[in-house]
Amino acid sequence: MSLASFAAHFKPSSDAPMHKHVSFSVLHGLVDPATGQPAVRCFAEVYPGYPVRKHVPDGMRAWDVPFDAYDPPDFTHANVEAGPVWAHPPRLDDQMWAALREQGHPVWDVSLGKLTFVKVGDAIAVDDDVGVDGLPRRRMLNPAGRTGLAGRGILGKYGQNPASDLIVARRNRTTKKREFLTILRADTKQLSTTGGMVDPEDTDEVAESATTGLVKAGIRELIEEALSNGDEVLEELKAFLKTAGNLRCIDGGFVDDVRNTDHAWMVTGVFVCLLPDELADKIELQERNDEASGIAWRTYDEIVEHPAGVFASHKTYFAKADAYIATLLQERVVAASTDRATKVARR
Ligand code: BGC
Repeated sequence: MSLASFAAHFKPSSDAPMHKHVSFSVLHGLVDPATGQPAVRCFAEVYPGYPVRKHVPDGMRAWDVPFDAYDPPDFTHANVEAGPVWAHPPRLDDQMWAALREQGHPVWDVSLGKLTFVKVGDAIAVDDDVGVDGLPRRRMLNPAGRTGLAGRGILGKYGQNPASDLIVARRNRTTKKREFLTILRADTKQLSTTGGMVDPEDTDEVAESATTGLVKAGIRELIEEALSNGDEVLEELKAFLKTAGNLRCIDGGFVDDVRNTDHAWMVTGVFVCLLPDELADKIELQERNDEASGIAWRTYDEIVEHPAGVFASHKTYFAKADAYIATLLQERVVAASTDRATKVARR
């Protein structure tokens, strides 16, 4: 679906009943783009430290469906309340609010096969209400609808919380199978990519596109979480990943993530690359921080069959990465045989 038809699809008709505090949203009613299904993980799974969510009956998730008894707990985790650098302050001032509305919200455009960005101010609905201190506050509303939990949960930012997932693949020299670099997350103990949150340093150069910022974050997270090599190999790896054509964006946008709340949700960009054998040989895996353990190369089958389960939408991301690399290798075989045939014809 193109972005224009995507927006038109979700545009409420003029007589659609609107929640009394909610303004127009073109992303309204968004399903999980990775699976095409409604975003349900916040109801199906429990994140450590989260309170019980308010029950939201099927059919009542959309903000424009009236739900007068909707009174979810307002929960912001103590780690976020403590005011770390990665979190917004409890109340956004006018300048921050304006900046937030200028941001691009990633949307995976299926027909173009690329990540596009919709201006948040044009796309996301706003919840105007009054805080416990009696003062008015504005918060953006989760485009996938009600989650049974107000506030930010463990997510630091109001609105979108950008992450980046760089999937690194190699060909196992011995088994000849495709393998992907994977970790076990410290929080949910599930298998995942080496991805992580986008840091300010990833997007500080104003001239850079939002996608470039995601790529930088993906490379930084990969190195921080999983690799122990000396600078020389890491520089070679970075140079390879930054070379045009070596990294491909295969998915992204809103993420059906267990941590999402009514006022904070995850978005990501998913990238894949296949390392050349010689570079893959030089990479040494090592647990580098407390966010990840169990770092290993795993085949797609080993990932989906892993007893720990797979985090968020990563099963879909690995499936897409596997399919993309299969196609890439096939194209290389065809290109090599065409090349041989051309040389023979020239003799
Ligand atoms: C993870 C990413 C993931 C994102 C959205 C982040 O915490 O590090 O790998 O895609 O959350 O679920």
